[in-house]
Amino acid sequence: MRLFLIKLLYVICSPITSLFMKVNGVKTKGIVFTSGFPYLFRGNGSEISFGKKVRMLNLPWMNSIGLMHRCIITTEKDAKLVIGDNVGMSGASIWCFKKITIGDNVRVGANVTIIDGDAHQDDPRSGKNKPIVIEDNVWIGANVTVLKGVTIGKNSLVGAGSVVTKDIPANVVAAGNPCIVVKYFDEGKIKDIEQYFK
Ligand SMILES: CC(C)(COP(=O)(O)OP(=O)(O)OC[C@H]1O[C@@H](n2cnc3c(N)ncnc32)[C@H](O)[C@@H]1OP(=O)(O)O)[C@@H](O)C(=O)NCCC(=O)NCCS
Repeated sequence: MRLFLIKLLYVICSPITSLFMKVNGVKTKGIVFTSGFPYLFRGNGSEISFGKKVRMLNLPWMNSIGLMHRCIITTEKDAKLVIGDNVGMSGASIWCFKKITIGDNVRVGANVTIIDGDAHQDDPRSGKNKPIVIEDNVWIGANVTVLKGVTIGKNSLVGAGSVVTKDIPANVVAAGNPCIVVKYFDEGKIKDIEQYFK
């Protein structure tokens, strides 16, 4: 029943969201699939682009973890946010001050936050904005926070509730606060992951 309702809302909401995005100068490769409606705030001179088959869940019951809010996508002035093909996100917040790049086939779990600045830029305690890169096939578990300046390498999985403060290499499981490598995928597993997304 839930899946049926999610699909029904995809059919109703996606064309409206995609039109709203176009009107607001967001670049899209075809329809952006949204079940429920995300919030989207594009700052002056900033760029937002969505790849093919991006999916966003936006209502609390759409993921059994319980989504705390709809997806919130924000770019500040002159920032650049690039979201690849086949990316899925559930109630995620992406707040882009400088540059955030999300590759293809990335899973952004429930209630994840990705933020490349400290937000209170007039406050002397704030540091510099630094770009974030999330490479292809990365899986970000529920309630993770990805902070400024990090790269998460291809195929890696970030465990639930982690706070990513430093780069995570490709082909690993990383977890905790601060997020560190807990496991390396062997070659067989890496082949399986890449096959899975072909
Ligand atoms: C990261 C994860 C995939 C690891 O699962 P796994 O491969 O079966 O590995 P294990 O459970 O054996 O954990 C390996 C080690 O990492 C630790 N660990 C696992 N998940 C962790 C987490 N989220 N935070 C901190 N440490 C974690 C384990 O305690 C274990 O430590 P040890 O080697 O010292 O005993 C899993 O714990 C996880 O967080 N899944 C994400 C689920 C999720 O959010 N899905 C999306 C829903 S929208």
